[in-house]
Amino acid sequence: MAKKELAGGRVRFLGSFPGTVPVQPLPEVAFAGRSNVGKSSAINRLLGTKRVARVSGTPGRTQAVNLFEVDTRFVFADLPGYGFAKVPEAVQQAWKGLVEGYLGHRERLTLVVVLVDARRDPMESDSQMIWSCRENHLPVLVLATKLDKVKRNARSGQLRKLRTAWSLTTDELIGFSSSAPIGVDETWARIHSAVAP
Ligand code: GTP
Ligand code: MG
Repeated sequence: MAKKELAGGRVRFLGSFPGTVPVQPLPEVAFAGRSNVGKSSAINRLLGTKRVARVSGTPGRTQAVNLFEVDTRFVFADLPGYGFAKVPEAVQQAWKGLVEGYLGHRERLTLVVVLVDARRDPMESDSQMIWSCRENHLPVLVLATKLDKVKRNARSGQLRKLRTAWSLTTDELIGFSSSAPIGVDETWARIHSAVAP
């Protein structure tokens, strides 16, 4: 299925859930990552629209799990971001509880897309996220996003560094950008193989 086929009414917003996330019958792909890393932007880029998931310059904007039904075949879940230092500890703990509860109790969850900032060295909070997925036996796809901000000649070295730090296979890490067409087709290929019946 091409990106274009998805645009124009095939994406349905199911709601924003700050507490319990309603059970869905369709396979689900979750997007996780630090606050402001670009989760909502990546969802918009993948769906070929600027308007579906709300993008913001203010970290911590997405404070609930937002669900989008795609092509009546699967669901995208935009998870609240973690690791933003400026929010109170209690709020961070609440987000952590929501995300960890979600990861541990989602029967149709077939892939967790963990977005990390391609410009930065491996970060502890991202390691924790990846390990939470592994503990829950959930397949992980790491998208090293904002790759457009990394000099071309530094890209492969930076991706290799991230891959090594988290012991990821070549299939498990993709260089990505929401502002430039980098990694979009590769990401769709991984998502499709994860949600295929
Ligand atoms: P929260 O919901 O607050 O956790 O943030 P988020 O992870 O959903 O990030 P969001 O998509 O709102 O993007 C945060 C900022 O990064 C925005 O200003 C985006 O325009 C910018 N951004 C996101 N992805 C990219 C990218 O691939 N390249 C560049 N250059 N900027 C990006
Ligand atoms: Mg967001």
